[in-house]
Amino acid sequence: MQPFEPPPGPRLPVVNAFRLWRDPIRFLLGLRRRYGDVFTVAYPAFPRLVYVSDPELVKRVFTGDPRRFHAGEANAAVLEPALGPHSVLILDEREHMRQRKLLLPPFHGDSIRAYGEVMREIADREIETWPVGRPFALRPHTQRITLDVILRTVFGVRDAQRFALAQRLVDEFARRSHAVLLFPALRRRLGPLGPWARFERARDALDALIYEEIAQRRTELPAGERDDVLSLLLGATHEDGNPMSDEELRDELVTVIGAGHETTATALAWTVERLVRTPRVLERLRETLASGEEEYLDAVIKETLRVRPVITDVARKLTEPAEIGGYTLPAGTFVLPAIIAIHHREDLYPQPFEFRPERFLEGQGEGYTWIPFGGGVRRCLGASFAQYEMRIVLRAIVERTALRAADPRPDALRPRNITLAPGQGARILVNRTQKRVRASL
Ligand code: HEM
Repeated sequence: MQPFEPPPGPRLPVVNAFRLWRDPIRFLLGLRRRYGDVFTVAYPAFPRLVYVSDPELVKRVFTGDPRRFHAGEANAAVLEPALGPHSVLILDEREHMRQRKLLLPPFHGDSIRAYGEVMREIADREIETWPVGRPFALRPHTQRITLDVILRTVFGVRDAQRFALAQRLVDEFARRSHAVLLFPALRRRLGPLGPWARFERARDALDALIYEEIAQRRTELPAGERDDVLSLLLGATHEDGNPMSDEELRDELVTVIGAGHETTATALAWTVERLVRTPRVLERLRETLASGEEEYLDAVIKETLRVRPVITDVARKLTEPAEIGGYTLPAGTFVLPAIIAIHHREDLYPQPFEFRPERFLEGQGEGYTWIPFGGGVRRCLGASFAQYEMRIVLRAIVERTALRAADPRPDALRPRNITLAPGQGARILVNRTQKRVRASL
C-alpha cells in the first residue's frame, strides 16, 4: 500500500462553499478540468471530500464491498436526528440489508402501478387550483402533489381530517428540520423557542400521529384489501420470522417521506422549468402524448434528471484504506460520486448544457453515466416510484394546461435541504386549463 496522499484540489473552504452555491455545475466541472477525475474539496464543515467524476471509478465505488464503503454512516451525520436509528438510509451492512429487503417489494415496479389512478386524481385536483393568466411559482404545487401521493399510497391515510392533520404535521416537521440537520451545532437546547426545541416538538407531534396510525392499522389486520405501503409492511416479516417493530415502521415511514416527496417535487418542477424554456421539446411531448406514446415522456424525465439531478452527489465513508483512481485514501475519507459533473461531461453527453431528450432515444445514458438515483446496494429505493409518479403528473400537466415561462431567464440551481431546486421556484404562466377529458393510464 502506498503512503496516503490526498488528490489535489482547491484549499479555501469558504471560497469553495461560495463557488459551489453560486454555480455547482461549473464549479465541479472546472475542478475536473483542472485536477482530473478525482479531486479533493474542503468545505467549512467538511474539511476533505474526495469527488470521483469518472463512470468506471464510480462503478467501483457503487459496487464495492458495502463493508468498506459505508453510505449509512455518511448519511447519518446529517440525517439521524430526523430519521431515527432504524432508518434504511443511515444503516450499513447486515442491518441495512435487513431493512432494505422488506422495503423493496412494496416499491417494486409492479406494486406501484396500483397507485396510478390515485396519483392522477391528486394531480388533477391540484391543477384545478392553479391561477390562470397570473404568474406563479410551480414548486410549492408539485410539493403538495408529491406529499399527498405519499400520504395516500405509503401511509394509506383516507380520512379527510386525519389527512389534513398529516399534511400540516409533515410540513411543520420539514420546516423545523432544515436548520438542525444542516448545522449540527444547533442540536442542543437553547430554550423552549430555540431551533432544537421546535424541531423536537414537531418530530414528537408527527411521531404521535404515525404511532396512532400504526396501532389502528394493527387492529385492522389481516390487511388483505389495503395496498398502501404501511399495510404491506405490517404484513411482512424479517428473515428470522419477526415482524417489523413500531419503531422500525416509524423510522422507515419518516425516511420515505423525507427521501421521497421533496426530491420528486423538485424533479417535477425542474422538468416543467426546462420544458417551458425549450418550446420545441414541449411541443413534441404534447404531440407524442396525444398519440398515446410514452417513450418521449420517459426521455424528457431522464434528460431532466441528467441536467438537473436534484441530488448532486452521494457519499460513501471508507472503513479501511482504498485505492481510487491511483490515489490511496485513508479510512474515514468521504468519497463522493459527483453525479452532476458526470452528467455534464462533454465526452459522454455532447453539448451537455442543451436540454435534448432525444439523446436518450439514441442510446446515451448507459451504465454509470446516468446516476441520478445513485447505485449499487444503496440505489434509491423509490426510483421506479418517482419516475412513475413523474410520468403521471407530467402527463396531467401537459394534457390539461397551456403554459409558458413567466420569465425567459433560466432558474439558478439553489440548495434546498438535500436537493438542488429551481431558485425562482419554476415560475410559470398558465393560459388555460382544460377539464380532464379521459382516464389516460
Ligand atoms: C426524483 C426523485 C428522487 C431522486 C432524484 C432520488 C435520489 C436518491 C439518491 C441519489 C439516493 C442515494 C443513493 C446512493 O447513495 O447510492 C436515494 C436513496 C433513497 N431514496 Fe431516493 N430519490 C428520489 C425519490 C425517492 C422516492 C419517491 C422514495 C420513496 C418513495 C425514495 C426513497 C429512497 C430511499 C429509502 C433511499 C435509501 C436507499 C438505501 O440507502 O438503501 N426516493 N435516492
